[in-house]
Amino acid sequence: MPQLPITIDRNSGTPIHVQIVESFSNLIQNKELKPGERLLSMRDLARSLGVNRNTVGLAYTELESIGLVQTRVGSGTYVIEANQGRDVGRSLPPGGAGRGGERLEHALSRRTRQGDALAERLSGGDGDTARIELGGLIPDRELFPAEEFRLVLSDVVKEMGPVILDYGSREGYRPLRRWLAERLSGMCGEVEEENLFIVNGSQQGLDLVAKLLLDEGDTVVVEGPTYHNAIGVFRLYGANLRPVPLDGNGMRADMLGDILEGERVKLIYCMPTFQNPTGVTMPLERREEIVAAAARHGVPVLEDNFGADLRYSGDEQCALRSLRGGENGLLLGTFSKILFPGLRLGWLVLPSAFREPFRTIRAYTDLSAGQLVQAAIHRFCEMGYLDDHLEKVRRENGARLGAMTSAMETHFPEGVSWTVPDGGMSLWVTLPRGIDSMELLMDARREGVNFAPGVLFHAGGGGRNEFRLSFTVEKEERIAAGIAALGELLRRRIATRRAGEWRESDVLL
Ligand SMILES: Cc1ncc(COP(=O)(O)O)c(C=O)c1O
Repeated sequence: MPQLPITIDRNSGTPIHVQIVESFSNLIQNKELKPGERLLSMRDLARSLGVNRNTVGLAYTELESIGLVQTRVGSGTYVIEANQGRDVGRSLPPGGAGRGGERLEHALSRRTRQGDALAERLSGGDGDTARIELGGLIPDRELFPAEEFRLVLSDVVKEMGPVILDYGSREGYRPLRRWLAERLSGMCGEVEEENLFIVNGSQQGLDLVAKLLLDEGDTVVVEGPTYHNAIGVFRLYGANLRPVPLDGNGMRADMLGDILEGERVKLIYCMPTFQNPTGVTMPLERREEIVAAAARHGVPVLEDNFGADLRYSGDEQCALRSLRGGENGLLLGTFSKILFPGLRLGWLVLPSAFREPFRTIRAYTDLSAGQLVQAAIHRFCEMGYLDDHLEKVRRENGARLGAMTSAMETHFPEGVSWTVPDGGMSLWVTLPRGIDSMELLMDARREGVNFAPGVLFHAGGGGRNEFRLSFTVEKEERIAAGIAALGELLRRRIATRRAGEWRESDVLL
């Protein structure tokens, strides 16, 4: 690999690892560094620049998180290969000198190799229970109504016997579909049972929708920022992502309109209620504007309603598909956030026209969702356990959100701002320019606190001075302790920044 023209300016006020990231980004975008080419080893680059090796490590980690390079353990860091329909894809040179299991990497499909393992690692908890977990969008296990679930499960097996242990229909367990269709009808528009499919978690719903609608090179509009595993799945199917920024009322309808005027868009993916990661909710007027723009151009909208039942304040909002012009919308929901994620149960409401093609795609994917769990959950819902549980969760989560925002008011320094959602599981923090949330994350992990850095959620790059905090995993006292620790770290970082004394980061993720 030739020497690279990377220079750093110690007086510029920009952290050194950011300068390295920017230099490599430019080289890659300008094709001076070609797809598949190996970057200098961290040690060699650190030596030639006269910087700490961990600073280079941090820069490489960040280049990986924004999808420009990929690291192979024991082999090196490579520029992602260009991919059809997209400027930058993700690939590795075939074969290579890897050790052990890595030797089979060349056998993976390009799609598989596009997966962003780093995002997966950074977005949620790592199983360290001592750590204060403000990163993952997961409910508190201690609230799970496990005993009620055990009872209904055992009743269902006893009463239904072998029938419920057989294959189910492509659409899902009929009584559960009926129950959901009735419950959703109204705020979610007219929901017909025959158009409601049970899926194995709403993540599978996203995958199936992508499989159903997307061809390589299709454009999908997403929110900027958006759910990182939606970015991943749309990219997996070869989509080009067009992020539309949010304001305090959700996706900017004017900017969506401009994009729809200018190019052919295949799908719009959005979360109008308690958006992940920001927690922002679209008011009715904005919903109408989004639906009208999409309808004008005949583009289906996939609404991810993952947290709609988790409202702690404010008025309920209707789903996009219930609005005039929104009838062709798709709606995704899940039991994961309101009950337990381990069920792997969600639902997808489709326009009638997609019903038959979806059945076919479903057959190729997994034939059907498991009947036993669906029947148990149907019984669970009919017995009123879901509503009882929701009441408890809403009360608890609302208190935790309050604990988080009041601790932020006490401990976060001036210049830091955040959203205050009416519900959901997370809020979004914006730092003063130049304060880097990846660096903060490394400090925070050393102090035993985790959160999700902003770069994960931006399909088009950015988010460096943003991060997501989730408030549903930890109890109030631990949330307050985590926020106090973050506040102290932020104060230090901001003071250092003011003094113009950027120090090199000395810890690698
Ligand atoms: C916005 C959003 N959609 C979908 C999912 C997938 O959830 P599940 O597959 O557990 O339903 C998640 C999980 O965090 C999410 O945040």
